[in-house]
Formats: sequence, C-alpha cells, structure tokens
Amino acid sequence: MKRPDWLSLWVIAAVVLGLAGMAALNLATFLGGGGNPTLVAVVLVLDALLLMASIAVALWFAQRYEEERKFGRAALDASHARLSSIIDSAMDAIITADPDQRIILFNRAAETVFRCSRVDAIGAPLDRFIPARFRERHRGHLERFGRTGGTSRRMGDATTLWGLRADGEEFPLEASISQTQGEAGRFYTVIVRDVTLRKQSEDTLMRQQAELRELSARVLEAREEEKTLIARELHDELGQLLTALKMDLAWLRERLPPPGTELGGKAAQMEALLDRTVTSVRRISADLRPLMLDDLGLSDAVSWLVEDFGARSSIKCELTLPDDPALEKLDRRVANTVYRVLQESLTNIARHAQAKHAWVVVGTGGEDLRMDIEDDGRGIREEDLARPRSLGLKGMRERVLYLGGTLDIGRAPRGGTRLHVKVPRLLEGETES
Ligand SMILES: Nc1ncnc2c1ncn2[C@@H]1O[C@H](COP(=O)(O)OP(=O)(O)OP(=O)(O)O)[C@@H](O)[C@H]1O
Ligand SMILES: [Mg+2]
Repeated sequence: MKRPDWLSLWVIAAVVLGLAGMAALNLATFLGGGGNPTLVAVVLVLDALLLMASIAVALWFAQRYEEERKFGRAALDASHARLSSIIDSAMDAIITADPDQRIILFNRAAETVFRCSRVDAIGAPLDRFIPARFRERHRGHLERFGRTGGTSRRMGDATTLWGLRADGEEFPLEASISQTQGEAGRFYTVIVRDVTLRKQSEDTLMRQQAELRELSARVLEAREEEKTLIARELHDELGQLLTALKMDLAWLRERLPPPGTELGGKAAQMEALLDRTVTSVRRISADLRPLMLDDLGLSDAVSWLVEDFGARSSIKCELTLPDDPALEKLDRRVANTVYRVLQESLTNIARHAQAKHAWVVVGTGGEDLRMDIEDDGRGIREEDLARPRSLGLKGMRERVLYLGGTLDIGRAPRGGTRLHVKVPRLLEGETES
C-alpha cells in the first residue's frame, strides 16, 4: 500500500507555508504590542490549530514510515525466500564464504557433490573441500581475485580443478567465482560443477582416438610394407625374368629370317610387346613404392615423383628442394609420410584442380620438415574437406598427426589450393647424429 510521493510533498509544503504564515502573524501581533485582545485571541487559537495540525502530520508521517518499513521487510523476506529456493534448486553446488573463508551458504547440490550435510559445512573453512596440495595455491588465487576487484570469473581456465568430498574422494570440477564487498569484508561465492562423468567420457574418447590412430598407423605401415615387398618382387624378380626373356628373344631374332618375313615380323612384334611389358612393370612397381625412397632417399624420390607427374600430366610442376644432407637421414616413417602426402596431393591436383601450374617447396630449417604444395586451379571448397567417401586427405592427415605434425589445407593466395605440412624431422627417442 504505497501512497504517491507528491502527496507528502504537498502536505509538507502546506505545513511549512502554514508555519511561515503563523510566524509572520505572531510577529505582526507582537510588534503591534498586543493592544487588540481579539486579535491576540484569534492568533492564539490559530497557533493552537496549527500546532495540532503539525502533530497530526507528524503522526501521519510516522504511521506511513512504519507501514513502508513493514512493506519493505515483507518484500525483502519474499525476495530472500525466492533466492533461497533458486539456490537450493540449482543443479550446481553453490558455496559462499565470509571474509575469513568460512562457509556461510551451502546449497542442496553442494551437499550431494561434497557428500556433506549443510549443518556440517556451515562454519567450516572453505579449505575443507579442496585437496591439501592445492590449498595454498587456491588461497593465492582468491587473494589475487579479491585485489583485482572483478565481480566474477571462471576458475582454472585451462587446467582441471580438483575438489575434495567429505569422504576423502577427489573429483574434477569446473567452477566460477564471484565476490561482493560487505561491511565486514569480501564475501566469495563459488559455483561448482562436478565433471567426473564428463572427464571420464573425455578420457575414454581420447584413449579410443589414440588407439584408433595407432591402429590406422599400423595398418598403413603394414600396407606400406606389403607394397614394398610386391614392388621389390616385381622389380627384381619379374624385371630380371623379362630381361632374360628379352635376351633370349634377341638371340632368336638373330637366327630368324629378317623382319620382312612372317616369322621375323612376329619376332619384332614380340620384342615391342616385351618392351611395353618392361615399362609397365617398372611403372606399376614405382607406383606401389619408389624403391629409390629406400635406396637413395627422399630428395631423389621427390624429384622423381615431380618429374614423373610433369611427364604424365600437362601440368607444369616446379620443385624447390634444399640441398640438405639431413633429407637423406630421415626416419623411414617421416620420409614415407612426406612422400605419400606429395603423391596424394599431386594425384589430387591432376584429378580435381584443373590447374596449369603446380609448385612444391620443401624446407628443412629448424626441427621440422616442411612442405608446401600449391596449384593455380579452381581451389578447394570447405565442403570438399568433409566428403565422407574421400579418403585421400583424411589418410594424409592421419599419417601426419600420428608423427606429431600438422597439416593445413585451404585456398592459396594465388587462388588455387595450398597444402602445408609440417612434421618433426626426428621422432621421439631419436637424437640427431
Ligand atoms: N588440389 C585440389 N584442388 C581442388 N579440389 C581439390 C584438390 N584436392 C582435393 N580437392 C577436393 O577435395 C576432395 C577430397 O579429396 P580427397 O583426396 O580426400 O578425396 P578424392 O581425391 O576425391 O578421393 P580419394 O579417396 O581417392 O583420394 C576432392 O574430391 C576434391 O573435390
Ligand atoms: Mg585424393
């Protein structure tokens, strides 16, 4: 029941004006010497009336003040009740500590999270719910936060925070903190979320991802070994047999009639067919695995790949390769990965880019081996990167990530596609010799 304020203003103004008028009248009567008894009587009556009116107004104000006080108290109680029910129904634990860091508020969720009743928690030091080894650090953080004067912030931004349940079990948590300045000092409120289940799922997911990565690396390695074996067999065994066949054929041709005759013509055809077979076997074997990667090292293998790409496609490819002996001493897995990334990238350029030029730049400065492959074609689109049935880019990324490297692919400044790959030259456990 709130009266409008203008009413009290008018009442005060009326009383003040009345008092001023009466003071003036009293003064005039006093200065006039009080010769007229009627006038003195009238003034006295008016004085009495005004006194009564002033008392009435004062009483009215007192009553009104009391009413408003009660109204304010009721509103405050209602607001308290609302706040308490919100705090108690919150899913997260809410704890408030006084300036001495003793707990003064502990909601229902806090009882569940910390496995401690409110009665036990109220009055206890906040430290009770922090593992002993973190208490000192936590106090430091709190003091620093108090000094910054900020109202609220997330705690432990990148690191996992740990809480201590009443039964001694530690658990991972996420928390935010806020502060308010009271008459007695700073009050801190911490909102705590128990993330045990989420952390467990994250850990499981990460472990499974690592296992899958390991598995995929093993599969790739096994495939690589298999390809090497077949390439060697093709190159050495079949290659030698074909060479022997060629020599035998040459021996036969010397003894056969000249190419103009039927027999001679047939032998010439056989020789041409044999030459094509030798070339095919070499190409298939090189596609499977360039044996020079094992025999001569990455530089030669990369040069051969770029040259072969230029010869097989109409795209001009420029290679910048440092003359660095470190390239020949690379771990087999690193050399393999770089080679396969280049091979897949060049195949992609030939298949998808519609490019006229391509550039391959290899760099060996620092601890990493870097390679940029760029083309001036149509450019790769965001949706190309997530094609479910395309495995080329995914395979490259897997290989590179497994070695602890990074692979970025996107639009080149020139408009085409640019792929940047970086892998550590030395893998874990190796030292530079
Ligand atoms: N240099 C490039 N220029 C333009 N688009 C490209 C280029 N490289 C890749 N792409 C696009 O990215 C997609 C994914 O490439 P990715 O190598 O993963 O698969 P793919 O070549 O289609 O099939 P595969 O699994 O046989 O490699 C391609 O389908 C193509 O649309
Ligand atoms: Mg591909």
